[in-house]
Amino acid sequence: MDIVAIQHGYEGLISGDFIPINANSVSNIIQLGGTILKSSRSDQFRTKEGRLLAYEKIKKEQIDAIVLIGGDGSFQGAKAFIKEFDIPFIGIPKTIDNDISDTEMCIGYDTAINTATQAIDKIRDTAQSHQRIFIVEVMGRDSGYIAYGAGLAGGAEAILVPETKADLKNLEYLLREGWDRDKSSLIIIVAEGDESGGAIKVAEIVKSFMPSHYVGICILGHIQRGGSPSAADRILASKLGFEAIEALLRGERNVMVGIKRNEIQFTPLHRIKRNHLNISDNLLRMMKALTN
Ligand code: F6P
Repeated sequence: MDIVAIQHGYEGLISGDFIPINANSVSNIIQLGGTILKSSRSDQFRTKEGRLLAYEKIKKEQIDAIVLIGGDGSFQGAKAFIKEFDIPFIGIPKTIDNDISDTEMCIGYDTAINTATQAIDKIRDTAQSHQRIFIVEVMGRDSGYIAYGAGLAGGAEAILVPETKADLKNLEYLLREGWDRDKSSLIIIVAEGDESGGAIKVAEIVKSFMPSHYVGICILGHIQRGGSPSAADRILASKLGFEAIEALLRGERNVMVGIKRNEIQFTPLHRIKRNHLNISDNLLRMMKALTN
């Protein structure tokens, strides 16, 4: 096969930003953060005219198939494109938000929650030694997966996610009850997209019912989207990348390669949608027990 790298995502597809690559181009990059392909958010590709321009570039370059690596926006784009044009796509789910259906893990999520967990551990040291409350804001405009994963792994006292409305009465109860039990530190994790308005707003709320306490704020931001990938992410990316190419060679068309119960699974692209953290009764019971 001849391979071209499409740089800057759909923007590069529209402008013909292609460079030939081979096996050497991807040697010694597995430990790197970011992407050698670059990325972009493309408003043009949302339009029919933009997608037509992309199709013309694909035809001109004689591209037979596209391997798409991305999150919800990328998959929405691919779904629109394959309805209009006959160019096969194989999708690989990659987003720290972990909010793609038909896979249990997206590439990047494990690294992001490890970064956030390490940060929480470090904040815990000051919180514990100085008996302070901290509100830590993690990424996730629409998704609570990072807050949930890092909150659980970091032993947070409360976790606020966009998928549910924050119960402020319960938050107050949890914090007071923790303090009354002589806890030396309290950490609340809030996803950036939580309807409470993020860490600054939550800190104001906490201050209003615990005015004599120090309430610190830490917004982790884009440090969660960079850095050397975890071993689990490297393994997942290797497996999904390999399976995507094998699938293309077998003649599979317009599917996403995901992983469920450690088994590779192919799902038609038109079925892929944004996945929300499933706040089941079981999860709630577990959170209640563990965040105590
Ligand atoms: O899609 C991943 C994500 O990190 C979200 O969690 C976050 O809200 C968003 O991207 C931030 O995007 P940008 O860097 O374009 O502001």
